[in-house]
Amino acid sequence: MRRISSIFHETHGKVAMEPEEPSLDPKDWSELRALGHRMVDELFDHMAAVRSGPVWQPLPEAIREQLRAEPLPRQGRAPEQVYQEARDLLFRYGLGSIHPGFMGWVHGGGNAIGALAELLAAGVNANLGGRDHVAIEMERQVIRWTAELLGFPSESAGLLVTGSSQANLMGVLVARSAALGPEVRAQGISDAKLAAYASAAAHACIPRAFEIAGLGRKTLREIPVNSDYQIDLGQLREAIARDKAEGYRPFLLVATAGTVDTGAVDPLARLAEIARAEGMWLHVDGAFGALLACAPSLREKIAGIEQAQSVALDFHKWGQVPYDAGCFLARSAAPLLATFGQNPHYLQPTARGLAAGAPWPFELGPDLSRGFRALKVWMTLKAYGTERLGACIAHCCALARYAAERISAEPELELLAPVSLNIVCFRYRNGSALDSLNADLVADVQESGLAVPSLTRIQGKLAIRAAIVNHRTRREDIDALLGAVLTMGRLRAANSA
Ligand SMILES: Cc1ncc(COP(=O)(O)O)c(C=O)c1O
Repeated sequence: MRRISSIFHETHGKVAMEPEEPSLDPKDWSELRALGHRMVDELFDHMAAVRSGPVWQPLPEAIREQLRAEPLPRQGRAPEQVYQEARDLLFRYGLGSIHPGFMGWVHGGGNAIGALAELLAAGVNANLGGRDHVAIEMERQVIRWTAELLGFPSESAGLLVTGSSQANLMGVLVARSAALGPEVRAQGISDAKLAAYASAAAHACIPRAFEIAGLGRKTLREIPVNSDYQIDLGQLREAIARDKAEGYRPFLLVATAGTVDTGAVDPLARLAEIARAEGMWLHVDGAFGALLACAPSLREKIAGIEQAQSVALDFHKWGQVPYDAGCFLARSAAPLLATFGQNPHYLQPTARGLAAGAPWPFELGPDLSRGFRALKVWMTLKAYGTERLGACIAHCCALARYAAERISAEPELELLAPVSLNIVCFRYRNGSALDSLNADLVADVQESGLAVPSLTRIQGKLAIRAAIVNHRTRREDIDALLGAVLTMGRLRAANSA
């Protein structure tokens, strides 16, 4: 039977739509269009020239005060003025993560295609919680590509989420439902004696996921690491045996592919064996390390990831997609539906019309309304391809090795951890009270605008930490960082003498 809607259009023609007052659309689009073109031009000029400016500069107190004092705008102002104000703030006082000298925490550099994708995604204003529209198919395609990249089965399912903190929380929740059955959603965990395991070097979001999930942080056993900062397998086996003897049920093993402090990768294939033998869910926190799969020369480091039940990863780190673009991947939709599935009346899927296309993404995760973050991942992957992204990843690791060599050759510097991927932990050692000296030095270097490293602690010692994630970073940026640390370290040493 022909669709009633087609017969209607043939007999009635197109429905005329009059713009209604009050609408936010301009009466004349030409001015706004010109502003849009100017914004793209100025943004790309800024990105192209970013290397020549400071990485970061502190926000002047007067501007902070001005932002705090400004009341709610009740009347609108000219879009051009509003844009200029935003541009002047952001181009001067932004985070600096697009700058090649940004090596703090674990920040990707973003990319120009991803920025255009954000504009397009915002323009079409898609909500990817559900319904039957192409944006959801594009997100499913990104999930299929991720599965293919990691060697997961073709029926894998998942979602793009804010980041790995959220994706790791989903891993814990899904493993909890798998262990206790879907009735845990109604009953809570009651007195189930569950035990989970991760290395002591796992990211802080892992214990926090246990807190949020109501399992309690103590359910997670933090297993010490070996000299390469990987989970110690002997101590893991002992902890499991001890727990079983005490009546606990081991249900989840969280492996890390790329620890945040040193970039260590847990032995994933060995952990998969242990998880299988103990009937545990294996979740891999691959926040940045999972995308090593893009780099043929490094892929071997994450061998075994394909055996995990679920993986968390971030396209906004080594995938260079603009924030935010995390991803949760599982081997099928079933455990996700068992954990998050819901059927409220007003969201009932139908066989046809816009409410078709079940299951909708909101049944696979914690959010109902969801933005179109898939588009910037989709366009980034299509525009550059995984090989080019992989080349950037391999380059970051080569730069980290170069930094480690330079540090080792420099008597005033001390390398504090082996460099397994892209993270270099070191300190300036010419002086006393080295922890506070190095903390001050990091702030000095950040404020100089020459480079942005951050801090961590390695075996009790405060470390300057450089995480090389940005596709724009070159040797000269590593030299600038080390040069700044040495020069300012000497100045501090001379002034305190
Ligand atoms: C290993 C690891 N796991 C999890 C996270 C948290 O990721 P996100 O900041 O995307 O929530 C990070 C962040 O750096 C990380 O390095």
